[in-house]
Amino acid sequence: MEPPGPVGENDRLRALLATGILLQSELTLAGLLRRLVETAVGLTGAGYGALGVIDRAGTALDEFITVGIAPEQIALIGELPRGRGVLGVPIRERAPLRLRDLAADPRSVGFPPGHPPMASFLGVPILLRGASFGNLYLTEKAGGEEFSGEDEDIVRLLAAQAAVAIENARLYESARLWSRQLESLNEVSEALATQTDLPQLFDLAASRLCELLDARVVMIQVPASDGVSLTVAAASGDHAAALLGRTLELGRSKSGRTLTRRRSERIDSVIDDPEVDQSVPRLVEASAALYVPLLVGDRAAGVIVAYDKRGLDHRFSDADMRIAQAFASRAAVAIDLSQRVGREAVRALLEGQEIERTRLARELHDETGQALTSILLGLKPLERQLGEGPLALIRTLVSSALDNVRSLTTELRPAALDDFGLEAALERLTRLVSERSDLDVQLNVTLDRRELTRDQETAIYRIVQEALANVVKHAQAGSVSVVVVARAGSVRTIIEDDGAGFTPDAVREGALGLVGMRERATLLAGRLEIQSRPGAGTTILIELPRSS
Ligand SMILES: Nc1ncnc2c1ncn2[C@@H]1O[C@H](COP(=O)(O)OP(=O)(O)OP(=O)(O)O)[C@@H](O)[C@H]1O
Ligand SMILES: [Mg+2]
Repeated sequence: MEPPGPVGENDRLRALLATGILLQSELTLAGLLRRLVETAVGLTGAGYGALGVIDRAGTALDEFITVGIAPEQIALIGELPRGRGVLGVPIRERAPLRLRDLAADPRSVGFPPGHPPMASFLGVPILLRGASFGNLYLTEKAGGEEFSGEDEDIVRLLAAQAAVAIENARLYESARLWSRQLESLNEVSEALATQTDLPQLFDLAASRLCELLDARVVMIQVPASDGVSLTVAAASGDHAAALLGRTLELGRSKSGRTLTRRRSERIDSVIDDPEVDQSVPRLVEASAALYVPLLVGDRAAGVIVAYDKRGLDHRFSDADMRIAQAFASRAAVAIDLSQRVGREAVRALLEGQEIERTRLARELHDETGQALTSILLGLKPLERQLGEGPLALIRTLVSSALDNVRSLTTELRPAALDDFGLEAALERLTRLVSERSDLDVQLNVTLDRRELTRDQETAIYRIVQEALANVVKHAQAGSVSVVVVARAGSVRTIIEDDGAGFTPDAVREGALGLVGMRERATLLAGRLEIQSRPGAGTTILIELPRSS
């Protein structure tokens, strides 16, 4: 080290230039920082110099370099400074601090035992992208003098160079982290690919991404069936239980926007973003966020939302966003697969049901129905012999049994659907409903010349059947209308009643009717919309696409 003493203008310039060149050298970060502290000590004539770098988590010192204190003495002092007293001031206030006497400052917490006495002080923060990540400080200027403004300028320059060096080291570290994350990403995608149960898949994806990003919270939000909101389908990290199942408005949340824009977004300050629905970040006290759409083919199946990186700096980096995006595209493949598997299973089930119903209907009609008809015929000669009186009850019973068999047969699988098509089958169905209830049932079918597929006819018939059953059971309606309009591109079915209405979101668990309707529509690549409010009747719309 240079001996302390007056240093000329030119020497200072030369020394500063030399440290600039150091930044491009092959030195380790610690080696480089040491040279910066040595330069600072040399140029200002300080007795001691130190540089502390807080780690990313903000909990410990990444680096702590001292100049002027012998290693034995450091060992004697023991504990590293924790930035509670004066040393922390430049870090907290992000501004340099000069003092004549360290110990006299009211913020001073005193020196640990074994610490050499130090009076004059100059400390400057090390600023990384606006946040302070450490400090460079000097004490004991030669001759018992105070540090000057010029000293401060020099140390600030050196601290700026330290910041660049630290930033470089961290970028290098994040590049290494990124490749490590990519490795675990591949592991995760294998785990995802074998999971076909959708809720479990969402859970797995949320918890793995939470680890991978080292985030406080990761959620997966999916569009709800009402078409206007999003539901938290999985949550991992802090407050997970409170987040699960929460809903957000599609039109008034960042998640909703992410779905429509199909673009990821990184937000450093959630509170300043007017698009964010603040209720959720407020719940978990989040300040930074990451929004990534889950794109399955050209459909946005959901949004991944991450809040706050753990540690001092909550902001996510570009690398985090890339990780989340890479993760999302892998998760999307798994989701697609799982939905397909699920859809296949439902399709097979419904097809099986339909076949079984047709078989039962035929059996009831051909066997039981014929048997009852034969009994009725057999009654005729008996009545001639005994008179109608004694047999009247038997005739009534058999007739009503035959009626029951007939309507059961129709319900199971209307022959009309197979023999005469959808319109005839719906006419029969609506007639039956209006006969059996006080409802005024209107039917209006407009089909073009092209035929609907058998699957489409079955689906529409079953959906109308369930919708009418619901009207009879739940609506207390005066009238209901069924409209089917087939056009070139699609076929629309609308069932509208003027009854009690209900809240679609609040449907009891275990109700299968509406779920089944939606599944039938989805299987045929169509959609189902429920419009209902208590007191405002119910409208159910089903739209199925037609191949052109
Ligand atoms: N047209 C309607 N008018 C009023 N409420 C309705 C109507 N349709 C459905 N609902 C309400 O929605 C709920 C769910 O209907 P869904 O058909 O899924 O089940 P469910 O009819 O109760 O039972 P099931 O599984 O036998 O069909 C009903 O319990 C009822 O409260
Ligand atoms: Mg029902």
